[in-house]
Amino acid sequence: MSEPRQILVTSALPYANGSIHLGHMLEYIQTDMWVRFQKLRGNQCIYVCADDAHGSAIMLRAEKEGITPEQLIANVQAEHSSDFADFLVDFDNFHSTHSEENRELSSLIYSRLRDAGHIATRSVTQYFDPEKGMFLADRFIKGTCPKCAAEDQYGDNCEKCGATYAPTELKNPKSAISGATPVLRDSQHFFFKLPDFQAMLQQWTRSGTLQDAVANKLAEWLDSGLQEWDISRDAPYFGFEIPGEPGKYFYVWLDAPIGYMASFKNLCARRPELDFDAFWNQDSKAELYHFIGKDIVNFHALFWPAMLEGAGFRKPTAVNVHGYLTVNGAKMSKSRGTFIKARTYLDHLQPEYLRYYYAAKLGRGVDDLDLNLEDFVQKVNSDLVGKVVNIASRCAGFIHKGNDGVMVSGDAAPELTEAFLAAAPSIAEAYEGRDFGRAMREIMALADRANAWIADKAPWSLAKQEGKQDEVQAICAQGINLFRQLVIFLKPVLPLLAADAEAFLNVAPLTWNDHLSRLENHPLNPFKALMSRIEPAKVEAMVAASKEDLLAAEAKAPAGNGELTKDPLSAEIEFDTFAAVDLRVALIVKAEAVPGADKLLQLTLDIGDERRNVFSGIKSAYPEPSKLEGRLTMMVANLKPRKMRFGVSEGMVMAAGPGGEEIYLLSPDSGAKPGQRIK
Ligand code: MSP
Ligand code: ZN
Repeated sequence: MSEPRQILVTSALPYANGSIHLGHMLEYIQTDMWVRFQKLRGNQCIYVCADDAHGSAIMLRAEKEGITPEQLIANVQAEHSSDFADFLVDFDNFHSTHSEENRELSSLIYSRLRDAGHIATRSVTQYFDPEKGMFLADRFIKGTCPKCAAEDQYGDNCEKCGATYAPTELKNPKSAISGATPVLRDSQHFFFKLPDFQAMLQQWTRSGTLQDAVANKLAEWLDSGLQEWDISRDAPYFGFEIPGEPGKYFYVWLDAPIGYMASFKNLCARRPELDFDAFWNQDSKAELYHFIGKDIVNFHALFWPAMLEGAGFRKPTAVNVHGYLTVNGAKMSKSRGTFIKARTYLDHLQPEYLRYYYAAKLGRGVDDLDLNLEDFVQKVNSDLVGKVVNIASRCAGFIHKGNDGVMVSGDAAPELTEAFLAAAPSIAEAYEGRDFGRAMREIMALADRANAWIADKAPWSLAKQEGKQDEVQAICAQGINLFRQLVIFLKPVLPLLAADAEAFLNVAPLTWNDHLSRLENHPLNPFKALMSRIEPAKVEAMVAASKEDLLAAEAKAPAGNGELTKDPLSAEIEFDTFAAVDLRVALIVKAEAVPGADKLLQLTLDIGDERRNVFSGIKSAYPEPSKLEGRLTMMVANLKPRKMRFGVSEGMVMAAGPGGEEIYLLSPDSGAKPGQRIK
């Protein structure tokens, strides 16, 4: 056997200012499955993570809640830890970036970069909130778009016309924190000279460290030339003060990845067999893998390897990037109840259902993954309950009734035994390459063969015949042996099912190599149901509870905080929220069917000073759209434009009714004029 590998694995550090949701879980579950696979194979594999606890968002949220940032991050860390534990995500350590280890390592890396000449300083002019006494990040400034004059746009881009600009170009800028008019102020900033690492990065990103799609994306940035990276923020800021620079703090993204090292270092103090330097020195033989989502690639595949190189540490072996989770084919939505928090899921469903579904759908690529809730129920019930667990439940009873629970020796189906053995290397290779979907397909194909063989042998009919008892026992012992193989193959995905199966099989915790042996002349423990079917009602209850989450959050949200007030179903809203809706009388100038769309009409609306293009799903009620032309209706004029397959929809018309033919466009009394606002 080859030497066990030494492997350090991380998942991205979740922000300490919000709850974990099923999108996050896609990352933590897949990393955990990979780590469990490595451990099952006998490798030394260490999985560390931490909360990402710094930054102005956390500082401001703590302030709003009337607690210190330290209290806030302690509360969130407790919540995150129990969410992960209950999803069976088994970190060797879950630390915090607000830790002594991280402070020391961040200082060390920064000083090494500085001493090697990789830090520049220069003055930066930025908006400053004179009331709050702090510099404002772009997202904390709002004003009128310099291009299209849309009001209430963020400091770096306009959601209405898509323009990007510097915050100083915004007209009538306001601090989103205090409402004060910001003033321009100079301040000294520290920059990491990323261009110093251009050649190294060009080579490193193409050396098998990244998926092709990711490397190609990075090549675009690398080819257009790298920029120096601003790594400092001025007080007040929740983070680490830069050594020797009072009032200057490390930007959160500087110390966040160092948090991987810090979490590992913290673990080393508890686990004497682990040597920090052996994992992080430049000549380290250990492997280092980061699992991350596609939104944070530049931090992990440009800044981070450059920082490590510049400070004399080893670089990652690979950065494994995954896509985003969608639910029922769309972005997670609070109003549809598909923005599902980890805890809400756990209140209704078993963690292993989701672990299996993610495994079944995960590949090596960076594509988004859809959690289709109907498919989820169907797939889990049919594969796990219908195929895998079914084998054990079909066979166990006969062994207990007919042979005192002892499995007889002998191989009743050598061709199946052979097929299971032969499949193992390919399943292992799929796990190793993070092609969990392929691994699951190969395992389920084996389960299908086992079930077909048992069905063909039909021990339940043999059991009723005279003199067939030996045959029944041979078939069922074989069935249980095949079941045991499947459990080994599935153990990285289904650790609880595996533990329950081990108890039933009356064996020590199974490892990967146990698939090479079989149980002969072996006593079993009584069989208990290993997994029950998902009841669709539980899924519905979870979705309903997720909608309630939204209403509760809304009731708590202070007036004017637009963050959670999108699309409530029947929640009470603050007057400010209502007043923010721009309701107008609109004249339907043109109405036509959209070729290729079953439900949509394309409307041209006159709202006095301008015309709007709106797509509306009302075709079933208005089969002759031209009849709508010339009629007045009501529209929401300040709805964010939405890009659809057929064009951009610039607002929404208002209609009532259950749907189908029963949709009724609202109209004002006669006399109303296009463009008039509803008061
Ligand atoms: N704090 C940073 C990471 C710092 S790592 C040194 C961060 N935190 S996060 O909480 O926003 O995201 C944590 C991880 O979850 C990221 O890898 C992110 O891509 C992933 N996901 C967050 N939402 C997701 C989905 N909807 N779908 C899949 N992954 C998602 O980024
Ligand atoms: Zn604009």
